[in-house]
Amino acid sequence: MKHLVCKYEDLKIDGKKAVSIDRKAIVVVRSESGEVYALRDVCPHKGPCLSAGMIDRNCAGDSVGEYIFEKETEVLRCPWHSWEFDIKTGRSLFAPEKVKVKTYEVTIEDDKVYVEV
Ligand code: FES
Repeated sequence: MKHLVCKYEDLKIDGKKAVSIDRKAIVVVRSESGEVYALRDVCPHKGPCLSAGMIDRNCAGDSVGEYIFEKETEVLRCPWHSWEFDIKTGRSLFAPEKVKVKTYEVTIEDDKVYVEV
């Protein structure tokens, strides 16, 4: 079922909004490119709200001191121990097949953001 969560304009770029739908904690995230994603707002490690974390770019590098920010991979970083989750897929960066958070389908209609739960 589709639930209205906010107006699109209420989400700033790299912004996030915590919502509760059917008693599920969900964080709605707007990427730098303007797309909107929704993820379960619970870190699978110890359980804090991911909405209290930061949105950032994946930082890669092959050697010590090399930092390459991958613009296409935006992550939501847990506020407790910094596990990072791809905002598009909910997959963790360190174990994408094993550690992930649930994602929800988002639609935008008439400047309104809906999440399918
Ligand atoms: S509680 Fe989220 S990374 Fe540890």
